[in-house]
Amino acid sequence: MYYRFHMKNGENNTVNPEKPETNRNFHTATIEILTYPNKFLSQPTQPVKNIDGELQNMIERMAVTMYQAPGIGLAAIQVGINQSFLIYDVSPQDSERSLQVLINPRIVSKEGTTISEEEGCLSVPDFRADVKRAASILVEGFDRNEKPLRIEAEGFLAVVLQHEIDHLNGILFIDRISSLKRGIYKRRVKKNLKGR
Ligand code: NI
Repeated sequence: MYYRFHMKNGENNTVNPEKPETNRNFHTATIEILTYPNKFLSQPTQPVKNIDGELQNMIERMAVTMYQAPGIGLAAIQVGINQSFLIYDVSPQDSERSLQVLINPRIVSKEGTTISEEEGCLSVPDFRADVKRAASILVEGFDRNEKPLRIEAEGFLAVVLQHEIDHLNGILFIDRISSLKRGIYKRRVKKNLKGR
C-alpha cells in the first residue's frame, strides 16, 4: 500500500548498528511485485506454519522491496508467496524506520467507518480511490519472533492493516470501490496490456 505522502527512498534509510534488524542490505535484490490483473493476487493465503530462517530471509527481501518502491505495507502474496504474513512501516517520513511484521493476522473486531482518501496499492499501479474502511480494529497475530500480538489500531494504521490483511484474503482495494470506478481502471489496464 502507498499514499500520496511517500516515505523516503530506500537509499536514505537509516542504518542503526545497535539494532541489526533495522539495517537493510540494499545490495539484496528486490522482488518483483505482482500487479493486477495477475490472478495470484486474488486467492486466499495459507497460514504460516514455521517462523524459520527462510521466512526471516523473505521478510528482509520484502522490506527492501517495500522501502524501495516506496510503500508503507507489503503482503507476501504481492511478491508471489501464498502465505499469511505482511510487513508495514507507518513511521513518519523524517523519523527512523520501524519495520513491523505481522504473521497469521486476524481482525478480531471492527468499529465505526471511515473513508480512506486516495488509497493506493503497489499491486494496482497508477490508480487511487477513496475506500470505505472500519475506523478502528483489533488485530491478533504473531510477530517474527513468534510473540503473540494484539494491536488496537485506529486512523491511518487501521486503514493500512485492513488493506494488507485484505491482500491475505485475496482482496484488492479496487474490490471495495464502486463497480463504475473499478470499470474505469479495468478498461485502462486492458488497453495498456493490448498496447504492449
Ligand atoms: Ni496493496
